Amino acid sequence: MFRPLTQGWRGLLPSVALLSTRSISSGTSTDVKFAGKVAVITGSTNGIGLAIARRLAQDGAHVVISSRKQQNVDRAVAALQGEGLSVTGTVCHVGKAEDRERLVARALEHCGGVDFLVCTAGVNPLVGSTLGSSEQVWDKILNINVKAPALLLSQLLPHMEKRGQGSVVLVSSISAYVSLARLGAYNVSKTALLGLTKTLAVELAPKNIRVNCLVPGIIKTPFSQVVRTTGSSWSQPHLVFPRRKGQPEDCAGLVSFLCSPDASYISGENIVVAGFSPHL
Ligand SMILES: NC(=O)c1ccc[n+]([C@@H]2O[C@H](COP(=O)([O-])OP(=O)(O)OC[C@H]3O[C@@H](n4cnc5c(N)ncnc54)[C@H](OP(=O)(O)O)[C@@H]3O)[C@@H](O)[C@H]2O)c1
Repeated sequence: MFRPLTQGWRGLLPSVALLSTRSISSGTSTDVKFAGKVAVITGSTNGIGLAIARRLAQDGAHVVISSRKQQNVDRAVAALQGEGLSVTGTVCHVGKAEDRERLVARALEHCGGVDFLVCTAGVNPLVGSTLGSSEQVWDKILNINVKAPALLLSQLLPHMEKRGQGSVVLVSSISAYVSLARLGAYNVSKTALLGLTKTLAVELAPKNIRVNCLVPGIIKTPFSQVVRTTGSSWSQPHLVFPRRKGQPEDCAGLVSFLCSPDASYISGENIVVAGFSPHL
């Protein structure tokens, strides 16, 4: 029952985009869930980030797309604009302060503030043991996966505060709960994000900014190729439980919900999207 439903949804994607374009162009701004809202998404030219960008834009937000490579930014912006969606883009390697500044500036060009930040960019430079990870590997993983979301948010915060409310979504991994073999330092970085979510949720509550975390299972993207081909996921009973592989679109609806007023009393949550949740 699960599988045909998903395939049906994927088949519907182009018409969903068309439907959304139509409702944006023909409706008043109040018809659209995120009318007037601006979303900044890192690592959004492919995979999970791109699916989230498409979904928030379909819901009416203006989305600022970003990743390290100009050609990827150009391709993603052209694809989404071709679907009638309101997007712009800029290069942003999240580990570089000057790139983060450029991303903030690009977001402010649209309407002077930012409502949503989704931190999707993440790396795993090593398939190997935790104790076999060099200092450079540790630095890269922790800089990009853990420090960069916090630093970018600190740069964006004054502009989110101006809006009177905001929603931040970090992106962890099921490997935070069920360690994937030979991804030791990466697993640790994704566990740290669960804690970062809790800490930021408490710190930013007085500013009416909510912070939650998407925790994907194995999702079919180039990033998960190594896990899917080495079979390390199959040694984990909890990751075998789902009856189908996840698709990037499976993650996008949760982010849309977490940014919406329906989630206005939800903050500090780490929410697993994996067909099954291994945590209590
Ligand atoms: N796929 C899974 O099974 C899975 C499971 C759990 C968690 N996750 C997490 O989900 C996130 C996205 O993964 P994905 O599977 O969607 O990967 P993906 O399809 O390979 O896409 C990665 C995106 O991030 C960008 N990127 C990579 N390094 C970056 C950096 N330093 N700064 C800015 N952008 C960067 C890439 O574009 P450029 O090359 O142009 O930079 C690309 O747009 C990651 O944080 C990952 O840890 C994935």
